[in-house]
Amino acid sequence: MAGVSKVDFDWEKEVKEFDERKTGVKGLVDAGVTEIPRLFMHPQEVIDRYPTAKGAAVELPVIDLTGAESGGARRREVVEAIGKAAREWGFFCIINHGVPLVTINAMLESIKRFHELPDEDKESLYTYERSKLVKWNSNLPVEEGDPACWRDVLNLHYTNDHLDPHEIPSACRKETVEYVKYMIEVRELMAELFSEALGLPSDHLSKMECMKNLAISCLYYPACPEPHKTLGAPKHSDIFCLTLLIQDSLGGLQMLHGNQWVDVPPVPGALIANFGDLMQLFSNGEFISVEHRVVSQLAGPRISVATFSTPNIRIMGKPFGPIKELVTKDKPAVYRDFMFEEYFKYYKTKAASVESALEYYRIN
Ligand code: OGA
Ligand code: NI
Repeated sequence: MAGVSKVDFDWEKEVKEFDERKTGVKGLVDAGVTEIPRLFMHPQEVIDRYPTAKGAAVELPVIDLTGAESGGARRREVVEAIGKAAREWGFFCIINHGVPLVTINAMLESIKRFHELPDEDKESLYTYERSKLVKWNSNLPVEEGDPACWRDVLNLHYTNDHLDPHEIPSACRKETVEYVKYMIEVRELMAELFSEALGLPSDHLSKMECMKNLAISCLYYPACPEPHKTLGAPKHSDIFCLTLLIQDSLGGLQMLHGNQWVDVPPVPGALIANFGDLMQLFSNGEFISVEHRVVSQLAGPRISVATFSTPNIRIMGKPFGPIKELVTKDKPAVYRDFMFEEYFKYYKTKAASVESALEYYRIN
């Protein structure tokens, strides 16, 4: 690849060697590395750019869904609390959501089991091909010179809420099928609550089909011998509408709030919800897509599962923009319409170097 290299080592060669092994970051740890390869080193000034908030000074809003499904006073309370969290935080913790604790724990366990399969049993699924519905890799960066992250990921892609169970690796098939049933239920309820919190009819977001496909990232963050030099996930915003996350007890997820990194601590059985850029766009800037990252740790592996609600393929070919009903004389469109594919390219190549990819589409 041409261009001025951002680093003083042969990035392309290191990427190629790492990629050809097809054993991921876990493979490095298994091989006993005590120093992380240069490819994984993030500039210190990037890692330290914002301070980390100390202690429990900042606490994520907790949304208790008890009684949210029925009409009446409780529903209104929940909608109000979600609307406030969505506008002020973009991140919140959901409890009493109906997903059994055993289902969550079994899912996390099964993802660990998949990543810890013998290398030869996972090799055939190792690829970066975008069209593959089921694959695993290490999320290598696309731009020459950019650092890689200390994690591996199994990606599962559901179309119209469907993925043939036989495509799912047997190590986590049963657990995934069970978990996804619940994810669909929670997403449907969230779509109603978000619609109401935006002042729209309950079925507005559901009818838009903007949360109809599911992309599931089953993440494995191996123990890292030099955690201060790398990251499990760089500072990023999610690109789609809604992310529902479960994580094990290790922690490491941080969100940017008030120019500080705030820990998103593990709460057994809870779901962490956050909005992606598309929801910020559709809501005309009302619901915020907040940047977050995952720090590396000496301890590991850490397991998390992120379920992204993404637009149905049928609407992907049309331009996306703020929901018309939310654009008024008092609140004109904050963003211009764009094609998702164009945004995706911009996000993939530019997101690391700009504050928010969505800013590029702001009108003023
Ligand atoms: C993501 C993400 C956080 C985590 O996959 O986009 O932010 O805790 N994951 O794994
Ligand atoms: Ni994310």
